[in-house]
Amino acid sequence: MSGPWSIVETSAFDPVARADPHGRLRELREQCPVLRDEPVKTWMLTRYADVRETVNDRSLWRHWTRSEPGALLRRMDRDPQPGDPPRVDSILSLDEPDHSRVRLPLAKAFYARINAMKPQIEAIIDEVIDAVPHGAPFDLIGEVAVPIPILVIATILGVERARFREFREWSEASILGLNPLRTPQETQRMEWGSAKLTEYFAELMAARRTAPADDLITDMVQLQAGGAPLSDDEVRVNLSALLIGGNLTTTDLIGNGVWLFLNHPDELAKLKADPGLAAAAVEEILRYESPVAITNRVMSEARTVGGCPMHAHQSVITSLHAANRDPEVFEDPDRFDITRKHAPHVAFGGGAHICIGAPLARIEAKQALVRLFQRFPDLELAGDLPTWRALPFFRGMEALVVRG
Ligand code: HEM
Repeated sequence: MSGPWSIVETSAFDPVARADPHGRLRELREQCPVLRDEPVKTWMLTRYADVRETVNDRSLWRHWTRSEPGALLRRMDRDPQPGDPPRVDSILSLDEPDHSRVRLPLAKAFYARINAMKPQIEAIIDEVIDAVPHGAPFDLIGEVAVPIPILVIATILGVERARFREFREWSEASILGLNPLRTPQETQRMEWGSAKLTEYFAELMAARRTAPADDLITDMVQLQAGGAPLSDDEVRVNLSALLIGGNLTTTDLIGNGVWLFLNHPDELAKLKADPGLAAAAVEEILRYESPVAITNRVMSEARTVGGCPMHAHQSVITSLHAANRDPEVFEDPDRFDITRKHAPHVAFGGGAHICIGAPLARIEAKQALVRLFQRFPDLELAGDLPTWRALPFFRGMEALVVRG
């Protein structure tokens, strides 16, 4: 790619980067590691050291309304208008002190739930994989990688089985909110999905207050009753954030992992010989082909990053993909190697906003890989080359046809 570079051209929105994002990112890291993309009022960092330092820096802001007008990620949402009802944002975009006030009790309840439900989570995954018949080609994404995270989070939250189908439809619609370049029709669908989810969570919260159950919604309303300073809207919005943050990403982690193993038979042979390598394999998938390409921060004061002067309110995108293949940190970074010894990847970001769902994503991906290759030891590619999704800043396939 010859300059001037544009951030969108490194994302899945661009056909070349969609087929392979890593070539352009390598060029950028080597030639212009601190890029200023003026038309979209955004910086992009591609060196591991700069990315890591930036995501770990708790003095930076996150909320997009703090970024300068015209910044790329500011376009993800509509700017607040006079007369709007007060906004309730999820932890994803909150700054201090609200971020800690909401994240800490949520994380505590969520992790206790994940620990208590681990056997149930693994059983759901086994059930999904065991339902796939032997012999006939099937789409791994649609049959396995999409249902797993939705069924798991639905179970953790306490969604009734009878509502699973609707819940999945609403979830898939509200996930369109992740696309800053979505069409007006997609925005409409997203708003419909989010409204349905809001309505349903309100219904469930009311139900759990009168009849507690063994689920995360009950945990959250009980925390409120015990004095945790969380409004109903905050609980609802953040439970939706768990849903939205965890679905597409975990689907892509499973999909990308299977794709990588089917293209690296030697690594697959190692995993089959020693399923104890599954946890390390998941880390290598996260490093090598992470589902989330970037994260972002907003400068809270003027400072120099990688030798470039940045001003308060400027928006900074950190390329997790580029950082995870930086040869300064990872030996032979373009090699997929599940026995890699030192792999401190940044696929989950860092600092105050580090992915809250990382422990759950790891459990799901590990169990899915182990079970899949146990049930289908001869799993092979069975269709055309997969199409990578055009959703900017994510990395995953539309479909992956395989045969077991
Ligand atoms: C492979 C799977 C996943 C990947 C690669 C991933 C990646 C990320 C990244 C990069 C961030 C931003 C971190 C930062 O800015 O420093 C993030 C935040 C977040 N993720 Fe994940 N995620 C995954 C799975 C999940 C799951 C399973 C859930 C929930 C069930 C989840 C919920 C969230 C939430 C709520 C945030 C916002 C946290 C905050 O700002 O405090 N993610 N994730």
